[in-house]
Amino acid sequence: MSEMNRRRLLQAAAAASAFAGVIARAEVANADDERAIEALLARMTLEEKAGQLTLLPDNARAGALAGANPAQQNQTNDTLTEIRAGRIGGLFNGVGAAGGRALQRAAVEDSRLKIPLIFGADIIHGYQTIFPIPLGEASSFEPELAERTARAAAMEASAAGLHWTFAPMVDVARDQRWGRVAEGAGEDPYLGAHFAAARVRGFHGRDIRAADSLLACPKHFAAYGAVAGGMEYSTADIPEQTLRDVHLPPFKAAFDAGALTTMSSFNDIAGVPATANHHLLTDILRDEWGFRGFVVSDYTADEELIAHGYAADGPDAARLSLLAGMDMSMTSGFYMRFLPDLVRNGAVPQHILDESVRRILRIKTRIGLFDNPYRGCDPARERRVMGLRPTLALAREAARKSVVLLKNEGDLLPLQRSARVALIGPFVAGDENQEGPWAFLGTQHDAASIANGIAGALGDASRLTVVKGCNVEQPIAGGVDAAVAAARGADVVIMVVGEGANMSGEAQSRVEIVAPQAQQDLVEAVAATGKPMVVLLRHGRALALHGAVKNARAIMATWFLGSETGVALADILFGAYAPSGRLTVSFPQESGQEPFFYNHRSGGRPQTTEDAEYKSRYREVTNEPLFAFGHGLTYTKFEYGPVQLSGDAMAWDGELTATATVRNTGSRAGEEVVQFYIHDRVASITQPVRKLKGYNKITLAPGETKTVSFTLKRADLEFTGPEMVRNAEPGTFDVWISPSAVTGEAKSFELRR
Ligand code: GLC
Repeated sequence: MSEMNRRRLLQAAAAASAFAGVIARAEVANADDERAIEALLARMTLEEKAGQLTLLPDNARAGALAGANPAQQNQTNDTLTEIRAGRIGGLFNGVGAAGGRALQRAAVEDSRLKIPLIFGADIIHGYQTIFPIPLGEASSFEPELAERTARAAAMEASAAGLHWTFAPMVDVARDQRWGRVAEGAGEDPYLGAHFAAARVRGFHGRDIRAADSLLACPKHFAAYGAVAGGMEYSTADIPEQTLRDVHLPPFKAAFDAGALTTMSSFNDIAGVPATANHHLLTDILRDEWGFRGFVVSDYTADEELIAHGYAADGPDAARLSLLAGMDMSMTSGFYMRFLPDLVRNGAVPQHILDESVRRILRIKTRIGLFDNPYRGCDPARERRVMGLRPTLALAREAARKSVVLLKNEGDLLPLQRSARVALIGPFVAGDENQEGPWAFLGTQHDAASIANGIAGALGDASRLTVVKGCNVEQPIAGGVDAAVAAARGADVVIMVVGEGANMSGEAQSRVEIVAPQAQQDLVEAVAATGKPMVVLLRHGRALALHGAVKNARAIMATWFLGSETGVALADILFGAYAPSGRLTVSFPQESGQEPFFYNHRSGGRPQTTEDAEYKSRYREVTNEPLFAFGHGLTYTKFEYGPVQLSGDAMAWDGELTATATVRNTGSRAGEEVVQFYIHDRVASITQPVRKLKGYNKITLAPGETKTVSFTLKRADLEFTGPEMVRNAEPGTFDVWISPSAVTGEAKSFELRR
């Protein structure tokens, strides 16, 4: 079996199990380890036990990561003393092999019980070499690519002394106003499950005890992507069926892939904050799924139980979160400060505390920290493994595959290398805006600059004119005039517009998901010259496009592409690589349509024609996306044949195969992501109008035809019913094999008992 087919089987298994059942691999520690842990536990004081449940910012080594979180007032600055006293179990967002060695020495040589520290950090899309943001990378529809970039990130990050990453972020996000859309895999749980599992496999590598392994922490558990209004840190008022069928599958897939930690989220779920949600953290995660790892809170999320109005004070917050199933407190220090007395006064049973300590000691044992506490603390290796050529080549491949060609009127692209090009916009040079959010440790590479990339592709920089024209959110005096002059002297204009890195990611919710006005004005002025214009969008979410941006002849979604942005975009613009990405988030026509996603329920009066009144509609726009989930073009065209079904019915324990031909009708080879959707017409919980249940990225030579098949079993038709039980129900199902979530002709079949 080929490696690709093995991975596809893994993915299919992940997808199937992602929705239900016990975690595939639940064992963590063997009998010898358990005995050693029990012996250690028996020697620990309450303070030392609470210390193992305490994760603090590594302020001494924070450096570039200091900006990742809000400053904390109540932080101990005497970390070494606290470590030697056994009051800290781990540090985060500090990096550097030498510094890690010194901190670890304080724990394993100076403390009473010599329990090693665990070092974690936010390695979301690369360490020093930055890959495309996860939302961009998901557009590749190649989870195996994500596995490779996660592996490369782990190689670099583990060399800097890290054992653990607070990634992958697997939140399913359906409201593009939310800034953290950038960190996930988009609006679909099935695709999200594949990428979640792939990224866990990549971070872990072949053995999580190895020095180059990075322990994954799928986050934010759970339903953070459902925050009302796309408002950061807000509430998630969703029914449990939506929690189970939309937001949990990527987590289940991550745990099935071997993830042994998870991070509780800031939001509440129907009024019960996730960080103290016993139903989530114990009933589902442990009792139903059999999760044997540990739960870490998000940054001060236990302290925030007070602001939620769920805990009365610090001790109450510590008690409620621990009793709910949380194990490790990040940043607040509440466990270190309050748990010993809470146990002494009986508010927290000692066995609950002990079990959380066991979970953390098991994981430290499982990743080899007791055998090799100085794992990853080798400055020589740290110097050796950063920014290697194969890693940069992978960053370039990932960037190329993340780009989605949204529009290409008159086949304006690919451009001729003999053209005179005007490159205009606030992102034309190389800076942090190429790398996007959560790239604090990235180093600037010349290849990141779009100007450098295009100059290299043209071979003669004299035919390239580069003008910023405006800043990200503010005009530049004379900028528009300079841009218009550059456009007039060129054969083609490339505009790079959209969001700055600081407009995306955590705490960056936006009411209008548009390019800032200064940029829109710049594009309007340049478009008025009448020159052919290519728009490269820079963004961490779907955008609402207007005016000259929307009307450009060619538009590409280029996200934040990371260290090799410039050369990767040049590869696509000039045809060295034909774009193959497909959207994993729907682009609305207007911001006001958000939350806006393809896999929505029908409602009782779905708008079917534009002129119908008394239907689900807005006065200003139709309900169609500007660009749909799954949409993406390339430098050739494809034609789909009709869906053929292996029968008109599926027996209760049978299966059904759907097949279609896809032909390359153009003159260039191209890659197509063939997508497979289903719709359950009648069900006891109304089902989405379409659900992705398969995809296959194929390459076709000019004129070549391939047949693509997808097989369904009853498990693929299941959903969470009124009694919170997953079941399929007999009835009629529609299926599509199509190039997006809004195209294709449906065929139907019956599921029969
Ligand atoms: C942040 C984020 C979380 C991150 C953590 C540590 O608030 O919500 O994703 O891992 O704090 O930086």
